[in-house]
Amino acid sequence: MTIGGCDAVTLAKRFGTPLYVIDEDEVRRACRSYVQEFSACYPNVRVVYASKALMVKAIALLVMEEGLSLDVCSGGELYTAISAGCPADHIYFHGNSKTAAEIAFALSVGVLRFVADSLDELYLIDRLARSKGLVANIMLRLTPGIEAHTHDYVKTGQIDSKFGIVIPNGDALRAVGIAKRLANVRLTGLHCHIGSQVFEMEPFADAVDIMMGFARQAHEATGFVMEELNIGGGLGIRYNSKDDPITARDLAEAVAPALIDSASRYGLPLPSLLLEPGRSIVGEAGTTLYTVNAVKRIEGVRTYVSVDGGMADNPRVALYQAEYEAALANRMAGAGQLSPESSETWETVSVAGNCCESGDMLVWDVAMPRPEVGDTLAVFCTGAYNYSMASNYNRYPRPAVVLVRDGRADVIVERETYTDLVAHDLVPARLRHASARPAAAGSARLDSAGAQSR
Ligand code: LLP
Repeated sequence: MTIGGCDAVTLAKRFGTPLYVIDEDEVRRACRSYVQEFSACYPNVRVVYASKALMVKAIALLVMEEGLSLDVCSGGELYTAISAGCPADHIYFHGNSKTAAEIAFALSVGVLRFVADSLDELYLIDRLARSKGLVANIMLRLTPGIEAHTHDYVKTGQIDSKFGIVIPNGDALRAVGIAKRLANVRLTGLHCHIGSQVFEMEPFADAVDIMMGFARQAHEATGFVMEELNIGGGLGIRYNSKDDPITARDLAEAVAPALIDSASRYGLPLPSLLLEPGRSIVGEAGTTLYTVNAVKRIEGVRTYVSVDGGMADNPRVALYQAEYEAALANRMAGAGQLSPESSETWETVSVAGNCCESGDMLVWDVAMPRPEVGDTLAVFCTGAYNYSMASNYNRYPRPAVVLVRDGRADVIVERETYTDLVAHDLVPARLRHASARPAAAGSARLDSAGAQSR
């Protein structure tokens, strides 16, 4: 198995496991496909990478090099982008619960847009901008009443969401009026995001129509002219053979005509079109490599293959019942000669993580050549929402991330060490007497021995 021209087993040996491997060409290809397909269908397009999918300095720089802007949704993501050297005037600042400190930070670096999620935030941005003598460019995130996830699309007029400003109850219109009156914000446009891992085009086209209808209403009520419309992210990817995602071209060919048509129906000028893909930029580019530590065969029940990572590096299976595919990277030659049907050396197994939880599984029921301890197991499509959602549960250090291209591998995030794990731990003076040896039961003695040590 090779990834970006690098032998996967060699990568595992060289950098250790678990290891996130990101195929640079795949990321670039996904970026280009969005830019090209949308530019071919619409006059003024900006593709904004939703960095929550995978935010590390090298990836931020890479997608910007491909002409994408950045969506950040926290002070930490913004800091990562800025410290990588990404220009602030290509950064959109999202989030439904921004703090004053985060907004002040974003104002001080000069982000291109705030995507304001509530009336409270609108007032706060205005107040903080005024205190700095600035005018902040903002967009309003609205809830268009469309909820779309994999194979599931509902248009309910639903307003029960923590995100965005509600249209049907009049809040959105009120927000436009307020934004137009506040002196230290300038309202440039509207934003919506209808869901994630979406496999259909209709919800996007419908969202465009709802947003344009609202823009018309807001124009009549307040004179607001929508310069830009952001339709969010959400394009699905192929995690396994059951997934049949639409492409950036499919999306462009659905959304661009819908927007042009709505603009003419509502008598509005064509706004700039912004999109915010995250998963579909980095998801398929990622593979996680693990080492098999134990194989437990329960005859007639199941074979558990335990690897050296799990829900700490990929919480998506436990959280969302996500379904991944996996293979043994060191047994691919055999896979070419054997097939699951023809050979008894194949086995259907389930891949278990190393955390102390029964729910910590990575893959259920996957066929592979009979696994053995020491094998290198690859789980595919882990580029999005894996590293970015990783934790130190059970105090596992977070894995390294390597970027591969043309046979070259560069570490873009170093593996955490045990020292990193305890770096922020502090021991109050009253506990510092405790040496490595626990006191015998019933004879615990509290004294100040060792109180000087940290
Ligand atoms: N824009 C906004 C405002 C968003 O909230 C999101 C994702 C995106 C863009 C990017 O969506 P994408 O193209 O990646 O689907 N942790 C979950 C996914 C949460 C997505 C949240 N928002 C998962 O692992 O499936």
